[in-house]
Amino acid sequence: MTGELSPIDRAKFVAAKRAAEMVQDGMRVGLGTGSTAAWLVRCLGEMVRDEGLRIKGVPTSTRTAELAREVGIEVVSLDQAGWLDITIDGADEFDGELNLIKGGGGALLQEKIVATASDQMVVIADAGKEVEKLGAFPLPVEVIPFGWQTTRSLIEETLVALDVLGRSAALRMSGGAPYVTDEGNHILDLHLQRIGNARQLALVLNQVPGVVENGLFIDICDRVVIGFGDGRVEVR
Ligand code: 5RP
Repeated sequence: MTGELSPIDRAKFVAAKRAAEMVQDGMRVGLGTGSTAAWLVRCLGEMVRDEGLRIKGVPTSTRTAELAREVGIEVVSLDQAGWLDITIDGADEFDGELNLIKGGGGALLQEKIVATASDQMVVIADAGKEVEKLGAFPLPVEVIPFGWQTTRSLIEETLVALDVLGRSAALRMSGGAPYVTDEGNHILDLHLQRIGNARQLALVLNQVPGVVENGLFIDICDRVVIGFGDGRVEVR
């Protein structure tokens, strides 16, 4: 499954593998999105195939759903599962309090719903994702397409009112057109540099008309499994 891996991929793989060991027979498991989460799905697929692990997987994107089916994981919807025992997902940044920026892969909305509907959320990440203060990674905000430019102006005004450092909100593009999420929305990436009060920003952004959800995950993550390029793993 792994072949010859670069240090960054080895870090992602070992974190995913360790987190997969937290999954027990019969669990309902939220499956994250992104390259690290893809390793997790492959590891779980191997456990289903080789060890007879029985789980129900709730994917957080169409990409993850496809991969999960491909590797033999039973896929159910969140409403079919009702509640989840564990969600394992990647992150773009995590801080010392295990608050996160997510959504670099464009799946933040389903990711936040699924993580919130779980007994525990475990983040898997390479060591480079750890930061002292969130915000160097552009903060994704999912907005509905209707009037998105107005929503962007309102967000920028909000950032000024909050005295946040960077204030530019860029429409995410893909193949020359606005990126479209699984829910048919767009994403604005906020270049903030450093977020002073992430809790406040997360709450205020969701008050702006047109905003569906933002990529700040505050008090949602319970544990983080950090992978290193030399194959070491640390669990916090
Ligand atoms: C997708 C996400 C991903 O978990 C995040 O972007 C990390 O991705 P990767 O594991 O590829 O670094 O939030 O919306």
